[in-house]
Amino acid sequence: MKVLGISGSPRKSQTTEGLVKTVLDATGLETELISLHGKKINGCICCLGCVEDNICKVQDDYIPLMDKVLKADAIVIGAANYFGRLNALSHSFLERFYCFRHDKDGHGGMRLSGKLGVIASVGGGGEWEMPGRDSKMYEIAGEDVKGFFDYNEIVLVGVVEAQGAVPCFSCGYGEICSVSGVKAFFGQDAKITPEIIPCLEKQPEVIDKAKSLGKTLRERLTKNYKDKE
Ligand SMILES: Cc1cc2nc3c(=O)[nH]c(=O)nc-3n(C[C@H](O)[C@H](O)[C@H](O)COP(=O)(O)O)c2cc1C
Repeated sequence: MKVLGISGSPRKSQTTEGLVKTVLDATGLETELISLHGKKINGCICCLGCVEDNICKVQDDYIPLMDKVLKADAIVIGAANYFGRLNALSHSFLERFYCFRHDKDGHGGMRLSGKLGVIASVGGGGEWEMPGRDSKMYEIAGEDVKGFFDYNEIVLVGVVEAQGAVPCFSCGYGEICSVSGVKAFFGQDAKITPEIIPCLEKQPEVIDKAKSLGKTLRERLTKNYKDKE
């Protein structure tokens, strides 16, 4: 059994990737973690080239991932909140799941139907309420990923949310900029020190939940496997 983890943040080795890895490691199964950092992944262009064979024809870095998604017994998708929405790289990647429609091997419908999935959702605003949406900042990306899961009939095992570091902590202007997220969190006179920068290690309850989800995923996969025997 293999679990595929995708970190949809353009940043490498940050909160999204760490959260996906925590879930994967807790499964105790064979896993592969792929960061979309540096990858060129277009959105679906609706060429419909996939309709006859379920193979996407847009030649970019999605192509090798397509086969991995299909073959994985379960997927863990990590994504980040950008501008109160699912970040574009994650969105482009998930749009390309369109190639899994029109299943020619089975009875029509979705080739990913019934595959188990976990969502790792990250937002720099953490538990702050998202204006105009009845959700917390770190829930937004996960809610959007859930929409893709529903369309593709991927069975959601669970969602874990973490606060990541807004870019204001590292842009160089976080202590002086009038719209600094650092000031918004810690006040006008905030000084950026390592202690105040959010990261996964400072959120033990989130790590516990991610590990618990990994174990649940293992149990569900093992049960599904036995049921099929
Ligand atoms: C362009 C951009 C827009 C962002 N907009 C939001 C936002 O609206 N709400 C929020 O909570 N975080 C926002 N963030 C912060 C990210 O969610 C945060 O940096 C997160 O940690 C990214 O995941 P990573 O650490 O794995 O890269 C934004 C970050 C960027 C780069």
